[in-house]
Amino acid sequence: MSGADNRSEHVSRETSEDSRRAALIQALPSIDADTPLAAQLAEDSRRRISLRGRQFARPATTRILTIANQKGGVGKTTTTVNLAAGLAQGGLNVLVIDNDPQGNASTALGIDHRSGTPSVYDVLVDDAPMASTVQACPDIPNLWCVPATIDLSGAEIELVSLVSRETRLRRALDAYLADREANGEPRIDYVLVDCPPSLGLLTVNAFVTGREVLIPIQCEYYALEGLSQLLKTIQMIQAHLNPDLHVSTILLTMYDGRTNLAQQVAAEVREHFGAQTLQTAIPRSVRVSEAPSHGQTVLTYDPNSTGALAYLEAANELSERQAARDSAAAGDATTRDGSEQHDLSSSDEEQR
Ligand SMILES: Nc1ncnc2c1ncn2[C@@H]1O[C@H](COP(=O)(O)OP(=O)(O)O)[C@@H](O)[C@H]1O
Ligand SMILES: [Mg+2]
Repeated sequence: MSGADNRSEHVSRETSEDSRRAALIQALPSIDADTPLAAQLAEDSRRRISLRGRQFARPATTRILTIANQKGGVGKTTTTVNLAAGLAQGGLNVLVIDNDPQGNASTALGIDHRSGTPSVYDVLVDDAPMASTVQACPDIPNLWCVPATIDLSGAEIELVSLVSRETRLRRALDAYLADREANGEPRIDYVLVDCPPSLGLLTVNAFVTGREVLIPIQCEYYALEGLSQLLKTIQMIQAHLNPDLHVSTILLTMYDGRTNLAQQVAAEVREHFGAQTLQTAIPRSVRVSEAPSHGQTVLTYDPNSTGALAYLEAANELSERQAARDSAAAGDATTRDGSEQHDLSSSDEEQR
């Protein structure tokens, strides 16, 4: 069938592309490990060659991830916008929903979000169709954003008296995705929902919308504090409002491998959540923190920086893990052996 042909053609193209990249990486001079800077630069070149221009794996169905952690300043927004940019650079169609009244994700994506701009507030409170609020990111193709304006700060209270107050965002998103499909527009592959640092109705709406939760964990003291509360909340949402919801992904952020503390936190997270934690950790990097003030993600602001590379790598890993799950599910469906569906990364990946 033509689908299978396409797929095998795709696979063989991928294989020759992979071997071309492998050859390039091989050709890089080997580096004296005694010069850490040179070693780092060579390592970065290898990572760049292996990722640049690569087409990331398209998920079998739209993935909707809520980026949550009730702590502020752990890298939720930074992760939302940079992962989104990475996935879009990998050729996937990505929608960011900025569900935080601070509107930092909108800022970082260069999206107009002055008060009065059609935004997630109109969707949540006034039943506006999501399509009327979606803006294209000016710097990155295939990346769109539903902005948040300051109006959203009132929504937490306004929502209380509205019917189906917990499911408003989900209904709007599901309708938007279905309309796109009905209109023959390209499918959105990834929806990333940024959350405020609290567990109010905005976050509940985000949890009801998402099928997966991605938790960024800052590699600092107290990193795991409050995590059990977050997991309990997720369990409650799953029991009462959204049976699909599960923590699929954990990303270590602001990782500084030179400190024992960061290493300890990372080891602890991997011990508890080995299957969910991405191999890629995001390093602490000045370029990452500078980018938003230029209305950019780090991937456009300084594409060669280690921060940009790390987010691109994390995006690739996110898509690859799903591809593995999708093909396992397809295999299960054909063999019908009735065996348990694989948990996300049941392959005991080496943990670094
Ligand atoms: N990898 C990183 N390196 C350096 N600074 C970072 C990094 N990730 C986030 N930051 C900075 O940390 C602060 C908090 O990040 P942010 O994404 O806004 O957290 P949250 O959305 O969880 O409140 C911001 O100033 C951001 O620029
Ligand atoms: Mg934020």
